[in-house]
Amino acid sequence: MLPLRLCINVDHVATVRQARQTDEPDPVAAALACEAAGADGITAHLREDRRHMQDADIEQLAVRCRTPFNLEMACTEEMLLIAERLRPAQVTLVPEKRAEVTTEGGLDVTKASDMLQPAIARLSAAGIRTALFVDPVPMIIERSAWLGAQAIELHTGTYAHHPHDQRPLAALRTGARQAVALGLKVHAGHGLTVRNVAPVAAIPEIEELNIGHTIVSMAMFTGIAQAVREMRRVMDAARR
Ligand code: PXP
Repeated sequence: MLPLRLCINVDHVATVRQARQTDEPDPVAAALACEAAGADGITAHLREDRRHMQDADIEQLAVRCRTPFNLEMACTEEMLLIAERLRPAQVTLVPEKRAEVTTEGGLDVTKASDMLQPAIARLSAAGIRTALFVDPVPMIIERSAWLGAQAIELHTGTYAHHPHDQRPLAALRTGARQAVALGLKVHAGHGLTVRNVAPVAAIPEIEELNIGHTIVSMAMFTGIAQAVREMRRVMDAARR
């Protein structure tokens, strides 16, 4: 089975800092602590409204992370210019709405394809791997491959919010298989916790999980290093 990377999204360390518009807690220090605890990568979302991550955070993460840095962003000219300048290892393109509390669904790859295709080409030319955050829907996955993305990140939100419904998990399994058959790498994330991660971690085609909110939540009680190690332990047990 492919190794499964645990990439920690440190956005909500910045959420706590921004609540007081001060300089603590520092998301860059959190990222370095996650790496020291065994994280395989760091993820951060620079939103248009800068509600958590600030430009200076992203600049620091791009330089100081020792593991691959995954910049989550909307497909806009402003963000593309930032990515081309900072050259993170990976960009994950996500839909973004100002009023949402968090990313609410996958990209509408059909509607947005006029923008996505040249954006993916630009990022590739800058040496950046591009993943598209998408719902596990066959037509959307097919379109993602057609657009030239190297990877998709399957949106696990529906699965996470409907723990007793088998259909969202079945859709993730089928979607992962379809994506690999189309030559895409498969990532997954959103709403994953130590309580629900195991069935997703057990999907053999998935190579990377992006997990944020629950790590910061657990960190309040155990510290961030222990939170990363606990997530890693549950993922590894599911992968065996
Ligand atoms: N993947 C993507 C594309 C996201 O937008 C988010 C949320 O920022 C995550 C993963 C992580 O989700 P969570 O914070 O619920 O673990």
